[in-house]
Parts: sequence; structure tokens; C-alpha cells
Amino acid sequence: MTKEIKHIPVLSKEVLEYLAPKRDGVYIDATLGGGGHTESIVSCLGKRGRIIAIDRDRFAIETAKRRLGKYGDKIVYVQANFSDLDEILEKVKIKKVDGVLFDLGVSSYQLKSPERGFSFNKRYNAFLDMRMDTSQELRAFDVVNEYPEKRLREILYKLGEEPFARRIARQIVSARKAKPIRTTRQLLEIISRSIPAYYRFRRKSHWATNVFRAIRMEVNQELPSIKRALPLAIRALEKKGRLVVISFHSLEDRIVKKTFREMSFPQDNKPVVKILTKKPIRPSPEEVSMNPRSESAKLRAVEKL
Ligand SMILES: C[S@@+](CC[C@H](N)C(=O)[O-])C[C@H]1O[C@@H](n2cnc3c(N)ncnc32)[C@H](O)[C@@H]1O
Repeated sequence: MTKEIKHIPVLSKEVLEYLAPKRDGVYIDATLGGGGHTESIVSCLGKRGRIIAIDRDRFAIETAKRRLGKYGDKIVYVQANFSDLDEILEKVKIKKVDGVLFDLGVSSYQLKSPERGFSFNKRYNAFLDMRMDTSQELRAFDVVNEYPEKRLREILYKLGEEPFARRIARQIVSARKAKPIRTTRQLLEIISRSIPAYYRFRRKSHWATNVFRAIRMEVNQELPSIKRALPLAIRALEKKGRLVVISFHSLEDRIVKKTFREMSFPQDNKPVVKILTKKPIRPSPEEVSMNPRSESAKLRAVEKL
């Protein structure tokens, strides 16, 4: 029997504190995932309250629909990319909302489903897929086997902040000349050959983390999606509506911080939002010890003026 996978929502208490859901409010959870945050928000809503729950992963939508069935039509599910937030709102016929939540990155369901190819766990040996939306064409396989060496190196360096990007990109290109790199284990072996032994023991996280994350971010175009979605989310907010974003990576956090700063101190316009978190909110040591995945989480929030 397979063990049930659980995704423990990060900074749950803080999300509710900053989102401050009103009983009859309308909310968006732009990253439904396992539905943990959606459930805690929907539990605060009264008869007329609604939450639009978005995920680009159809498996996330299907699983959450089953798990959260008891909330009926209080939750409106939409399978889409949150970067199309304007079209999503048009489709569900909602103009303004009282709050939006983004909890970025991948869920434990995605990471722990071997066939999705997100994990570098040696036991899995899956096809190099890594698509959140499985109807999309570009897969990790295409990135690894078709991107020119220079582009691969840039991705590993910029998105992965991988110090051995040059060596790893070179080894990938040389390995794929012999035969296509099809599986996560093949990629793992190439990374292992490309990095010095000391690097494996010195790092806090697994030595393949950076490379796998960089490829995943490229496949799913994660940073461009966030860049496009945040201003759309702010535009959709009612006056005094709140936007809460949890990021797990410095590049994501940089986009959030920059967008919030630009919209709270615009050069030649009136401010659109007020920043509620001067510094990002971090999980407590207790939360990190219970849920190590939360360690790198940063929560930032703004209120619409
Ligand atoms: C960290 S998980 C969210 C977990 C969720 N808050 C919970 O409590 O279970 C992130 C989810 O966002 C989804 N996601 C990431 N980027 C997305 C995008 N651009 N559009 C829609 N969904 C996205 C992923 O598929 C994943 O299911």
C-alpha cells in the first residue's frame, strides 16, 4: 500500500493574520496545491463568502476537489496558470476580490509523485518531466536534451545559483551526444560526475537541489508567471483588500519585494498599496522543526489603498 502524501501548509496562522478574511468576502488562492490554505480560508467564510482556487496542475485540482468536497460551491476551482488572472476572473465573472494568496513553488504531492519527475530521490528514477501542467509541451527532457550548452549554463547559474553550472552544462551536452538523457537518475549521475566530492558534504541541502530546481523553474516559466501575476492580483483587489505572497527562493522574493516597492512608492503616480510587512515574515523554529520544507519561506503582504 502506498503511503498517503500530505502537504503541510506553510505559515498558516500568518496567512490568516495578514489576509484577515471577512465572512462574506471573495478570495483567491492562486496556488491551491493540496488545499491546506484554501481550507483554512474557506473555514473563515460565511454563507456568501467564496474562494477561487487556482492551480495549473489538474491532479492538484482533482485531489483537492475530492478532499474539500464538503465545502460545496464555496470553492470555485479553476485549472489555469495564475499569470492569466485577468482572464480567470472574467471567466468566473468576478471583478474585484478581498484578498489573494500565492504560496509559490511545488507541492509535496508533486515532489513525492515519482512519475512527475520533480524529485532527485535516487529511488524514483522517473522520466524527466517536471511539468506542473501536463498538457504543456516543454518538458525537462527537452530542456536537458535540446537546449544549447550556453543556455543550459545560464539557467543553472541564474535560476539555480549553481556554482558548478559550467561543468554540469558541459557534462550534460557530452552525455547526450552518446544517448538521450531520459531519467532523473541519469541526470543525477551526470551532476554527481561534474561536481567535486567535497561539495557534496559541505552543502546544507542535497547537491542536486540547485540543478533540479533550475530546470523545473525553466520548464514551468515560474519567474515570468509571478512577474505578470502580481500586478494583476493587485489590480483585482478591492480597497483595503490584501495580497499575501509566500516565496521559497531569493529570485522569487526579489520579484515580490520589487513589485510591492514599486506599487507602494511609484515614481510619478499615487501609491496603489501599503506594505504590511516591512521585513518578510519567517516561520518559527517550531514550525521549521515540524515541517523542514518551511525553512526558506518568506511571507510578504500589502493592502490596497
Ligand atoms: C507550494 S504548493 C501550494 C500548497 C498549498 N498552499 C497548500 O496549502 O497545500 C504550490 C502549488 O502552486 C501551483 N502553481 C505553481 N505555479 C503556478 C502557476 N503559475 N499557476 C497556477 N498554479 C501554479 C503548483 O502546481 C502547486 O500545486
